[in-house]
Amino acid sequence: MFTKDLSFIGWDEVKRRQLERVSLAPQWIELTNLAPGMIVVDIGPGPGVFTREYAKVVGKPGKVYAIEKSPQAIEFLQIGLKKLDNVQVRLADAEHGLTDIPRPDVVFVTDVLHHTDSPRDVLKSIFELVHSNSKILIAEYDPAADGKVGPPLEHRLDANVLFELATEVGFTVESTETQDYEHYYLLLRRTKL
Ligand SMILES: C[S@@+](CC[C@H](N)C(=O)[O-])C[C@H]1O[C@@H](n2cnc3c(N)ncnc32)[C@H](O)[C@@H]1O
Repeated sequence: MFTKDLSFIGWDEVKRRQLERVSLAPQWIELTNLAPGMIVVDIGPGPGVFTREYAKVVGKPGKVYAIEKSPQAIEFLQIGLKKLDNVQVRLADAEHGLTDIPRPDVVFVTDVLHHTDSPRDVLKSIFELVHSNSKILIAEYDPAADGKVGPPLEHRLDANVLFELATEVGFTVESTETQDYEHYYLLLRRTKL
């Protein structure tokens, strides 16, 4: 049975599933033009398979802030991120604001929003954090896909619903498309000042 806090599968399994779809990382990195020296915020990193990929790209002059609300996930994350000193892990709930973080070049929110109580509040927190040049990459499992991998179709977030929500909060959707592993992405920029 699906639960938003992922307690129904355990973090080993979450990590296995991340590794299964890690080929999405290069696409997300390319879409955001992620480059050495950039500042990244990775919201809901879980065991950190994707966080590692971002940290490798930004390198030593860059920084990745991994914002995770589950202390158990953070234990996994710390193990997975050994030897990477350009990642800062923070225990925090992104629905309640993102504080003490510099304005990022890129924000990743991948497969997180359908685990939150209020996707709108997460988007509002991001809106307060970013500047108009920041790129925000949201990826989710598509409820219009066939449901062979990932969460049950009825627990997924519709791309059109997220598109409207993001626009209401003050973002422009620069591009959106379906991807492998039953995913779609939205690439956002902050429009309202
Ligand atoms: C399915 S995992 C996704 C991990 C990774 N982003 C990926 O693409 O594989 C969802 C993660 O988001 C975290 N999460 C959910 N709601 C959150 C919130 N409001 N603030 C921070 N982390 C959150 C969960 O604890 C979990 O580790």
